[in-house]
Amino acid sequence: MKEKIVFDNLPRHIAIIMDGNGRWAEKRNLDRIEGHIKGIKALRSVLKSSLEFGIKYLTVFAFSSENWQRPKKEVDSLMHLLEQYISAELPMLIKNKINFNVIGNIEKIPYSAKRNILNAIDKTSGYSDIFLILALSYGSREEIINSAAKTALDFKEGRIKNLNAINESVFSSHLYTNNMPDPDLLIRTGGEERISNFLLFQIAYTELYFTKTMWPDFERKNLISALKNYEKRIRRFGKIKV
Ligand code: FPP
Repeated sequence: MKEKIVFDNLPRHIAIIMDGNGRWAEKRNLDRIEGHIKGIKALRSVLKSSLEFGIKYLTVFAFSSENWQRPKKEVDSLMHLLEQYISAELPMLIKNKINFNVIGNIEKIPYSAKRNILNAIDKTSGYSDIFLILALSYGSREEIINSAAKTALDFKEGRIKNLNAINESVFSSHLYTNNMPDPDLLIRTGGEERISNFLLFQIAYTELYFTKTMWPDFERKNLISALKNYEKRIRRFGKIKV
């Protein structure tokens, strides 16, 4: 029996940069793809623990707009893993009433994986308590530029009457994350301390947590450490504590 963990102050939305799969594999003289396969296991375990703890939104960076530039062999393997992951996970998503969604330019995703993604989005669209969001072919600068262009079009076509009406709410409505709360906690594994073009607009007041643990090794106890660390943070959102 797992001990029941009580948290005083749980993030509603956790975003994760799942970094270190390649280095995890290389250190063991394995093909990089073995790191991604183990990375999927870590994702399953973290999603399970997130459900256990009552996290409502989990957004994970699975493939960036820059990752297309990796060797074709690795890209093809990742797309294949993605396709398998979605179809294997769908029964679990339905059983747990998890709303599955994707942020990013999924037009670029190969058809066989995209078909599974669209099917999973469709089959889980009625659920509204827990959300799993995969960032796929995602780049935050591209997302922000697209939102600027759509906002400009709103103005040009008269849906926005004057420039003063352009505010955070209008701008956010054109981001992929429309209607999602901003992340409360961003976790990056793998030892690098940078954001790598992930959710730049949305993490303005997010608490950041960096760990040297490689993503394939990240499990329930590591998530507990991140959550216990978050529990101690005092969030002021630019104001002073009253
Ligand atoms: C970063 O590790 C991870 C990725 C680019 C992909 C993340 C993918 C997974 C966790 C598994 C696949 C999940 C799905 C749903 C397809 P890296 O390769 O950049 O590692 P490195 O920094 O050590 O080279």
